[in-house]
Amino acid sequence: MAVLKTRNLTKHYGKIKALDGVDIQVNEGEVFGFIGPNGAGKSTTLRVLLGIIKATSGEAEIFGQDAWKDAVEIHKRIAYVPGDVNLWPNLTGGEVIDLFIKLRGGHTNGRKEEFIGKFDLDPTKKCRTYSKGNRQKVALVAAFSSDADLYILDEPTSGLDPLMERIFQECVMEVKREGKSVLLSSHILSEVERLCDRVGIIRQGQIIETGSLSEMRHLTRTVLLVETKQPMPELSQREGVHNVERLEDVYSFQVDSEKLDKVIAYVSGFGIKKIESAPPTLEDLFMRHYEGAGGER
Ligand SMILES: Nc1ncnc2c1ncn2[C@@H]1O[C@H](COP(=O)(O)OP(=O)(O)O)[C@@H](O)[C@H]1O
Ligand SMILES: [Mg+2]
Repeated sequence: MAVLKTRNLTKHYGKIKALDGVDIQVNEGEVFGFIGPNGAGKSTTLRVLLGIIKATSGEAEIFGQDAWKDAVEIHKRIAYVPGDVNLWPNLTGGEVIDLFIKLRGGHTNGRKEEFIGKFDLDPTKKCRTYSKGNRQKVALVAAFSSDADLYILDEPTSGLDPLMERIFQECVMEVKREGKSVLLSSHILSEVERLCDRVGIIRQGQIIETGSLSEMRHLTRTVLLVETKQPMPELSQREGVHNVERLEDVYSFQVDSEKLDKVIAYVSGFGIKKIESAPPTLEDLFMRHYEGAGGER
């Protein structure tokens, strides 16, 4: 069942088409990754869904209600972390957390202190003194302390260090275990893929792919850097292997993710001395998309 849905959503700013027919759907109990480069239209989509801005045309629904007209009702059941968190400079972090929770109708799970501890936030400081990361922590603590049915998180980890990112991921997984739904935006696929049941890829205001990551696996390549004892003269002819480059005994190449086990088995026959892999990037996905569409690349 869908908790959130847009249909042919458009938003124009003068001549700029920030959104150009966006269709996304988040189902109950699901973590949906909303992925796209900067300027793709992620925040605009989320702001329309939150009723902060009005769409030019198209539909946006949450819990079956209209995102614009029924915003007040809808907001009682959602928690939102904006992309750039602006806080009241003269209030302390703790005061702002309480205020956020109150603004959401005061539905809390009583775990505020626990999340303040987990995110290692000093709630007694005035917000004006907080770094971007600390402002994000304030918004995250307020969101996860709210008893919401849907969490809308706009690039929530962009100012957090890797340790805090881990904590954030645990929080999302816990929310998911409780059967809640999450819409999580990011411009880095690898950052969110572990968390997401499905992802939608947006580029220049249009959704170019939607599906589970395994459904998209055929679109992704893993980058391998391998050093072998014996040379592999026929590596580039193996199925699923692309862009082979060789520097002495070290080979760098891309592998279609679905051929990864066969290629690794082949390579291991030459005696692996060292192997490194890098996850497929968003750019890889786009590149494959255009190849598939018969594009220039
Ligand atoms: N208030 C605005 N006025 C004019 N253009 C805007 C405004 N907000 C966003 N845009 C433009 O809309 C596009 C999408 O922006 P945004 O939704 O913020 O992207 P993302 O969150 O994916 O980085 C960009 O080209 C951006 O410059
Ligand atoms: Mg944004």
